[in-house]
Amino acid sequence: MKRPLLAGNWKMHLTLAEARALASLVAAASRELSEADLVLIPPFTALAEVRGAIAGSAVALGGQDLFWEDKGAFTGEVSAPLLKDAGCDYVVIGHSERRLHFGETDASVNRKTKAALRAGLAPIVCVGETLEEREAGRTMERVLTQIRDGLDGLGREDMDRVVIAYEPVWAIGTGRNATPDQAEDVHRFIRRRIEEKYGNGAASCAIILYGGSVKPANTYSLLKEKDIDGALVGGASLEAGSFVEIAREAIKGRKERQ
Ligand code: 13P
Repeated sequence: MKRPLLAGNWKMHLTLAEARALASLVAAASRELSEADLVLIPPFTALAEVRGAIAGSAVALGGQDLFWEDKGAFTGEVSAPLLKDAGCDYVVIGHSERRLHFGETDASVNRKTKAALRAGLAPIVCVGETLEEREAGRTMERVLTQIRDGLDGLGREDMDRVVIAYEPVWAIGTGRNATPDQAEDVHRFIRRRIEEKYGNGAASCAIILYGGSVKPANTYSLLKEKDIDGALVGGASLEAGSFVEIAREAIKGRKERQ
């Protein structure tokens, strides 16, 4: 059985003291959550602090973005090798907030994904439609473009490390999560596209997360779905109690997977 993956995207939140306190609580709780994989994704400023707080636990560390060049005169940017050196195993790429506010495109997502893989990081590639696209019946078309162009040129072996996060834009930070049926439809669609391109083995091993208003109360029903392998959690990951509860619910849901 595939272990559920729960990643907490802290976005632009938490001071060093707050980050240390939260990461320490998650690390302590992780001993009783050995059936799940937990990842903490703090702002760059808190990577070292969180790395220290989770040392010796099974909790992994991730970055929220990277630049595709390995090094150079790119003021303000952070590269994949620098993230790796800071202790990261994961990096979020193409989050909808970066697409919306910082001009991220499927082409830049593709370059960043390749940079992450080159450095030995697992990219968490985010896709998802806006409300307008959903209402116009264009959800699958949008997601198809994002995975086709975002993952263009990747080989079969790369797919063992790529994580895809389906995050409908209208569900992020709104308190209105996709229903398990809505999420499952898109997850199944993504898995089929992976199968078409890379075969059955890659498709069944692929980790596809759901993100968008994930909370303890909705995790179980989402994780019971066949193609939902975990969650990328924003707001509810900023409090240890709710993130840990989400992990517990995910483990329960996974065991009763349909
Ligand atoms: P919320 O869980 O706050 O809706 O955020 C989801 C998200 O964007 C995670 O990357």
